[in-house]
Amino acid sequence: GKVRAPTHIISTISDDRGEEPCYAGVPMSTIIENGYGVGDVISLLWFKRSLPRYCTQFIEICVMLCADHGPCVSGAHNAIVTARAGKDLVSCLVSGLLTIGPRFGGAIDDAARYFKDAYDRNLTPYEFVESMKKKGIRVPGIGHRIKNRDNKDKRVELLQKFARTHFPSVKYMEYAVEVENYTLTKANNLVLNVDGAIGSLFLDLLAGSGMFTNQEVDEIVGIGYLNGLFVLARSIGLIGHTFDQKRLKQPLYRHPWEDVLYTK
Ligand code: ACO
Ligand code: LMR
Repeated sequence: GKVRAPTHIISTISDDRGEEPCYAGVPMSTIIENGYGVGDVISLLWFKRSLPRYCTQFIEICVMLCADHGPCVSGAHNAIVTARAGKDLVSCLVSGLLTIGPRFGGAIDDAARYFKDAYDRNLTPYEFVESMKKKGIRVPGIGHRIKNRDNKDKRVELLQKFARTHFPSVKYMEYAVEVENYTLTKANNLVLNVDGAIGSLFLDLLAGSGMFTNQEVDEIVGIGYLNGLFVLARSIGLIGHTFDQKRLKQPLYRHPWEDVLYTK
């Protein structure tokens, strides 16, 4: 038989050796001629399969909704300060991206993991939230600096509306809403945030589409695919903020002394 020399790299998502590049086995001409969108490309390159239209549409909605949230949030602020220090596009972008984490934009996989575990173990919202409190862990996907009960996050409502209309089941999202109802009894700003909405709804997408095993779902949230969605989406805004500052020829940023509490 054939003797295969050992390779240094294994790759399973794309192939550029033929006449045209293929994403998960699908040739580029098919992608273009069939009118595939960014959601389909993400499905092929991340999940290595074509997903139903409502799933790829949901992915695209997540990307659009998370593309930007104004100049004041952590990521945009970093990108703006870096642009004003005269740095190049890639430096501005990564400086913004580096703020994405457990408090800002990067709570999606943890939200999915904790909501799934609590739902699958039949914990009531009370039992779930109080057990997290005992462990000293904030509930990922809950809480916002400026959003609250009377000023709910429109992005969350839009995601919920889409999923309630198109998903076969939204059981994990409804559970997250029950958790929100409980946390709102504790404080006004403990709303289901956009990370929590995407996390719980992605569980519904993965489970409801029937295209993923339970083990694959655990792997997806374990590796951090869902935070990848926020990273991808917010890159659009961070690049926009960088261009904006450069276009406006903004000078070096220095934070005002008056806004610092100097203390011993
Ligand atoms: N679960 C339980 N209690 C909470 C939570 C939570 N998720 N968030 C806040 N609290 C309570 C705590 O009692 C906290 O006191 P502590 O500091 O002793 O823990 C108190 O509220 C006040 O907390 P603050 O830090 O002042 O709240 P803030 O409004 O600044 O925090 C934040 C907002 C960072 C989003 C917070 O709610 C949090 O950590 N949430 C979980 C992580 C998360 O989902 N991040 C994604 C946000 S959406 C986005 O970035 C796109
Ligand atoms: C965001 O999308 O950046 C936000 O939800 C975070 C914020 O503080 O507004």
